[in-house]
Amino acid sequence: MEWTVSTLVSILAALIPVAAIAYQFYSPPAVTSIDEANAEADKETEPEEEKPKTIMQAARTDLDPPKDDPFTMEQLKEFDGSNADKPIYVAIKGTVFDVSHKKETYGPGGSYNLFAGKDASKALGKSSLKEEDASSDYSSLPPNELKVLNDWHEFFAKRYNIVGRVIDLPPPASNL
Ligand code: HEM
Repeated sequence: MEWTVSTLVSILAALIPVAAIAYQFYSPPAVTSIDEANAEADKETEPEEEKPKTIMQAARTDLDPPKDDPFTMEQLKEFDGSNADKPIYVAIKGTVFDVSHKKETYGPGGSYNLFAGKDASKALGKSSLKEEDASSDYSSLPPNELKVLNDWHEFFAKRYNIVGRVIDLPPPASNL
């Protein structure tokens, strides 16, 4: 048989419907698990540069050297934001942080005013905004909540100046 242009054209024409049918039945390899699906999704949206992982304020590099001034719990109360002339302090595990530059958060009417002027370690560990949990005694916290509390301490230490420590926290009450 002679291979003319018209023969080739008719062979190609015959192949087109075959290819179209084959394509209809073709589906991409099935993703077998959610993990694989997520990995695929990640690949597609791989960011050019690392995006910030949190909406929280960034850690600071301009903090003052930590101070070790003693505060009684009574003295600490004066720094709850109710007196606009005084700084606002939050204590965590006895460390006193100056949070004055986040007045809208810790000052009067702020979402986290509950933490101002006191050591409310227990509430931070429990992720609680209840007044009854705003206590320095975190002895009842299970390990996972102790971790949360320690993470908060670290968070504050990277963002707020340490101005002292609370010297008269009551001994942790036993939860037994
Ligand atoms: C619906 C629940 C909650 C939402 C939507 C929420 C939202 C937020 C947001 C948007 C911020 C960043 C604020 C900022 O940088 O100005 C923040 C910070 C914070 N949240 Fe919450 N929060 C919630 C629950 C809680 C609870 C239960 C606690 C109790 C421990 C808590 C403690 C904190 C603290 C200590 C900060 C750090 C503020 C700072 O010093 O920058 N939050 N939260």
